[in-house]
Amino acid sequence: MPKVNVERLRSASVTRRESDWEGVRLHVVTGKGGTGKTTVAGALALALAADGQTVLLCEVEGRQGISRLFDAPSLPYDERRIAVVPRNGATAGEVYGLAIDPEAALTEYLEMYYHLGRAARALDKVGAVDFATTIAPGVRDVLLTGKVYEAVRRKEKKRVHDRPTYDTVVLDAPPTGRIARFLGVNAGVADIARVGPIRRQADSIMALMRSPQTAVHIVTLLEEMPVQETSDGIAELRAARIPVGSVIVNLARRGPLDRPTIEAASADQLPRADFVAALHETGLPADDATVEGLLTDAREHAIRVAMEDELRTRLDDLGRPIYELPRLADGADLGALFDLAGELTKQGMA
Ligand SMILES: Nc1ncnc2c1ncn2[C@@H]1O[C@H](COP(=O)(O)OP(=O)(O)OP(=O)(O)O)[C@@H](O)[C@H]1O
Ligand SMILES: [Mg+2]
Repeated sequence: MPKVNVERLRSASVTRRESDWEGVRLHVVTGKGGTGKTTVAGALALALAADGQTVLLCEVEGRQGISRLFDAPSLPYDERRIAVVPRNGATAGEVYGLAIDPEAALTEYLEMYYHLGRAARALDKVGAVDFATTIAPGVRDVLLTGKVYEAVRRKEKKRVHDRPTYDTVVLDAPPTGRIARFLGVNAGVADIARVGPIRRQADSIMALMRSPQTAVHIVTLLEEMPVQETSDGIAELRAARIPVGSVIVNLARRGPLDRPTIEAASADQLPRADFVAALHETGLPADDATVEGLLTDAREHAIRVAMEDELRTRLDDLGRPIYELPRLADGADLGALFDLAGELTKQGMA
């Protein structure tokens, strides 16, 4: 079980200010495909654990992204401890992982609510569960969100099958394009089921999803498409009355050039003589081709920075807190995940 980079987390927690999300029990992490949802969800779970919390990190897409991220064996449909964060020799917090699977969630649901233990397993054997969850895609989402709800609410129940109870649940969620429909699926169920236990369950789930205990964070890159999806996603979540949390800019780069230099480079006005002098000073060849190549690189860099600045402004205009995570040179391995967690703590997300 991973116990690395504790010092780094600890130094981050010394300088930490109060989390921006006190009172949130369900952190949903969405974003355009490939922007870093799984990575950010993992880092956030670690950051919350470093704060002393017991955290459940769950995924719903059957991809085993969490076990890969934490170098753990594949997760069964069962909550497994995947990281502990010690402090002063004692355990500060823990992260459990869960890969929610709709078939298993349905079987469990039938057992819990209708006490259909053996019958549910029999249904599963004849393929009825599989049938129920594939025939109507909405049913999958009802089951997946139902399980998330159960994990969040467990803390308030007196005794639930001796399972761990969680201070917070972090959900590595479906991408932005599907998030509002996914989290809001039970609103539709409540419309169909006018009375009875299904209606009550659907209402309870929607009440959680729309409460200040939920925050939906959107991961983006400083690129046109993900920023556009972030903006669309926020509009859809607001329309569904689901609380939007923060925007997390992942893979952010801070360039080496200062503002005046960038402006000069975009205007193609960098002093050529300075380049030649600098090359001579370092003993590098200062022929025309080299100088021209450097000026072109500088101009392209400046254009990219200008575009990123414009996208940052668009994100600012969305009116949500923004956190920024650097692009880590060696990719997001487990050690790097602790670094990203420390970064989130420092910026006040956890
Ligand atoms: N801050 C970072 N620095 C370096 N590499 C990163 C960082 N964040 C994510 N990555 C890498 O980018 C890739 C995509 O990240 P990740 O799997 O978290 O994205 P995702 O949004 O969950 O993708 P998908 O939509 O496929 O589920 C991974 O290889 C991951 O290791
Ligand atoms: Mg993922």
